[in-house]
Amino acid sequence: MKRFKNRIVLITGAGSGIGQATVARILSEGGTVLAGDISEAGLEVTRSQAEHAGHADRLTTFFVDISDEDSVRKTVGDAIKAAGSLDVLVNAAGILRSEHTHKTTLEFWNRMLAINLTGTFLVTRECLPELLRSGRGAVVNFSSTSASFAHPYMAAYAATKGGIQAFTHAIALEYAKQGLRAVSVCPGSIQSGMTNDPGLPADADLMLFAKMSPALLGGGFAGPENVASAIAMFASDDGKFITGTELRIDGGMHM
Ligand SMILES: NC(=O)c1ccc[n+]([C@@H]2O[C@H](COP(=O)([O-])OP(=O)(O)OC[C@H]3O[C@@H](n4cnc5c(N)ncnc54)[C@H](O)[C@@H]3O)[C@@H](O)[C@H]2O)c1
Repeated sequence: MKRFKNRIVLITGAGSGIGQATVARILSEGGTVLAGDISEAGLEVTRSQAEHAGHADRLTTFFVDISDEDSVRKTVGDAIKAAGSLDVLVNAAGILRSEHTHKTTLEFWNRMLAINLTGTFLVTRECLPELLRSGRGAVVNFSSTSASFAHPYMAAYAATKGGIQAFTHAIALEYAKQGLRAVSVCPGSIQSGMTNDPGLPADADLMLFAKMSPALLGGGFAGPENVASAIAMFASDDGKFITGTELRIDGGMHM
């Protein structure tokens, strides 16, 4: 399948987990990828994986801090300018931190918003002119099962992910007549940097997680390629009648 031949896809959070798996998936389907992350070491791994697969000629990596307006303006803007156009944006960059809500500092809260929610806005704003020029632009934002189902100790994280869903609905309608589609994916229980260490408080009551069904599809955590495949479907012409909605990818944990 070469659904992304002659298409340019910008992916943030491309140095680890789901973003990194999405880079590999889009490259394998013939796309050109602009891969950004705050982790230079992570981007090195992404690049060596592409070299190993023989796709490195269609990959550009760049450092970006999505919470920093100047960084986004410069690095995302330069990457798009060098590529000449843009068809798809995948906003995978994000952080997960857990804490009792009554112990959550304003600094913690603001950091979570700055990266997950404001970062998604800043990168989307930078990319929109070229996505609209494309006439078939697609935006994949990263919400979470925590946006719609109660996840204890993650109130700040969940609030950012709920905000991303609302933001995504708004842009889906605002730009629909210009051919733009926008969805949120809601992953859950996917192996990645952040789920290796969700950083739950030491005294967390694990019984509060008992209401989630055990994962039905094979049990346990799934690999990030299971989200990358859904993103590729949505962002390609196979998803051309899908916009303004969410796709939950969690093995049935939240049925
Ligand atoms: N893994 C899951 O089960 C799960 C569940 C729900 C939502 N998500 C969402 O999926 C997305 C991808 O996360 P993942 O699970 O692959 O985790 P991950 O930690 O493996 O990847 C996140 C990436 O974002 C990058 N990043 C963090 N802050 C950044 C910044 N300021 N600027 C640029 N890059 C930055 C990190 O360096 C990292 O490479 C996130 O938005 C996350 O909230 C994941």
